[in-house]
Amino acid sequence: MKSLLLPLLFLCAAQSQVPPKPNFVLIMADDLGIGDLGCYGNKTLRTPNVDRLAKEGVKLTQHLAASPLCTPSRAAFMTGRYPIRSGMASQTRVGVFLFSASSGGLPGSEVTFAKLLKSQGYATALIGKWHLGTHCHNNSDFCHHPSSHGFDYFHGIPVTNLRDCKPGQGSVFTSAIRNLVFVPLQVIALTLLTLAALRWLGLLRVPGLVFACLLLLAAALLGALLCFLHYFRPLNCFLLRDRDITQQPLSYDNLTQRLTEDAAQFIRRNADTPFLLMFSSLQVHTALFSSTDFAGKSKHGLYGDAAEEMDWGVGQILNVLEELRLTNNTLVYFTSDQGAHVEEVSTKGEVHGGSNGIYKGGKGNNWEGGIRVPGLLRWPGLIQAGVEIDEPTSNMDIFPTVAKLAGAALPEDRIIDGRDLMPLLEGKSQRSEHEFLFHYCNYFLNAVRWHPPNSSSIWKAFFFTPNFTPEGANGCFFTHVCFCFGHFVTRHHPPLLFDLSKDPRETTPVTPDTEPRFWDILDTMQQAADRHTHTVQEVPNQLSSQNLLWKPRLQMCCSSSSALSCQCPQGKQGRGGSR
Ligand SMILES: *[C@@H]1O[C@H](CO)[C@@H](O)[C@H](O)[C@H]1NC(C)=O
Ligand SMILES: *[C@@H]1O[C@H](CO)[C@@H](O)[C@H](O)[C@H]1NC(C)=O
Repeated sequence: MKSLLLPLLFLCAAQSQVPPKPNFVLIMADDLGIGDLGCYGNKTLRTPNVDRLAKEGVKLTQHLAASPLCTPSRAAFMTGRYPIRSGMASQTRVGVFLFSASSGGLPGSEVTFAKLLKSQGYATALIGKWHLGTHCHNNSDFCHHPSSHGFDYFHGIPVTNLRDCKPGQGSVFTSAIRNLVFVPLQVIALTLLTLAALRWLGLLRVPGLVFACLLLLAAALLGALLCFLHYFRPLNCFLLRDRDITQQPLSYDNLTQRLTEDAAQFIRRNADTPFLLMFSSLQVHTALFSSTDFAGKSKHGLYGDAAEEMDWGVGQILNVLEELRLTNNTLVYFTSDQGAHVEEVSTKGEVHGGSNGIYKGGKGNNWEGGIRVPGLLRWPGLIQAGVEIDEPTSNMDIFPTVAKLAGAALPEDRIIDGRDLMPLLEGKSQRSEHEFLFHYCNYFLNAVRWHPPNSSSIWKAFFFTPNFTPEGANGCFFTHVCFCFGHFVTRHHPPLLFDLSKDPRETTPVTPDTEPRFWDILDTMQQAADRHTHTVQEVPNQLSSQNLLWKPRLQMCCSSSSALSCQCPQGKQGRGGSR
């Protein structure tokens, strides 16, 4: 009897010591503001499903995106490292990829959490937006594609949802077109008129060739503009399933439903194996869209409709987990890649950007509104339920947290800036491991955050701040997004210092008069910034103008289309279609 029982006991003991690997569902909304969610205080926008995560898990109230812009923020999220370490931090005005045929992207040498989990036997999928590059040298190398970064399955858009992707929703290129086409055209027209007048008056002998050249130049500019407007949508707004184009240009009809259903199917297919699903919502970035079920239903126009549909999608995913009895073995995370894009106002004047609650600024700048994002984590039984944590945390923390829970070792040959969140989430620790955090505006170190040990203060020192336009506005309305250098910013000597624990709205900088330790605090923060800067190595710049440029050889075009149109709106069944 004893001999029979012993192995059985060992088996039980072994089983209780090695719990099954948890599943991960990481949900990232796009441009959603912290003030848009019911659980963060919004009373009129309905987000019951996201709110449920707050009720059943931990709500982080000082959760920070590593960058206030999509591409760098997502690079940091994927790798647990400041985007400057992977070269995903721009030195020019353009901080994100705008074309599908750009050559930069998340380098293959970077390790994403998907890569780590795949090596631990996880089934991995990314559904929705990627925005971290596609190709390097030709349109079939997929060197930056999700499949080269540990995702077994991808269904979504390689770049981002832009106004230009939806007819009638305006363009993000309005000011570029004005500067690059309309202004030169005006100059040419004026020159032509002047020359014609001088010739007519007999004051100047102008050869006909000069007129012909100027006219040709004008025609070329106009032609280029018309081509750009005509081709932008099919060439950049398409859906991929794995490496195949399934819809070009993408259609917004039931788009959320289609992607959500695909996410649900992925979970169903992998209910018996540990899985990692990253659901990267296209909403609520402009162009705003929603299905007929949500159109006109919210109290906040197109924006509210899109946000409520996004919330519905979250609910569908939570329901599938429930139905398959996976809830108790799944860590669900919800966040946004950065703060709401407050400068987004439609040509008709409708507000198309969300709310950052009490916080100043928004997407594109490092005021709290740009980086303080929702952060909800639920894992019933393990992570505390209904608890609020106000310690500074970062979206880079998901990387080490997920790696550890999955039993994967962190790469040792590089700096990981994120910290394991579990001690905080389980209530085993009351302090964030981030004594300092560094806030970058693309390539430029913009501000430092310091949470001194044994203190409740949260110091934030700005080396520069964006110049809002028009003056007094809460954003850079003239340029649509704030830039990080030159005359677009004001440099501060000494740095502009706030105590966020007392002044979360960043209205009143402290001074040597109001804060006796002023110089000591700044000194400590400057030293931390210097130490940090020394750890940053020069790496190839993935967002250089050279890389950002559209390159015909990298352009993908669905195979059944004629080469010139690049359109398969009906949806081609790619080889991944049945998976
Ligand atoms: C709720 O969200 C909407 C849409 O972004 C916004 O207009 C409104 O001001 C928000 N309400 C609060 C209390 O933040
Ligand atoms: C899931 O975990 C919660 C919290 O520990 C527990 O109350 C509940 O019974 C569990 N549900 C299942 C189906 O095991």
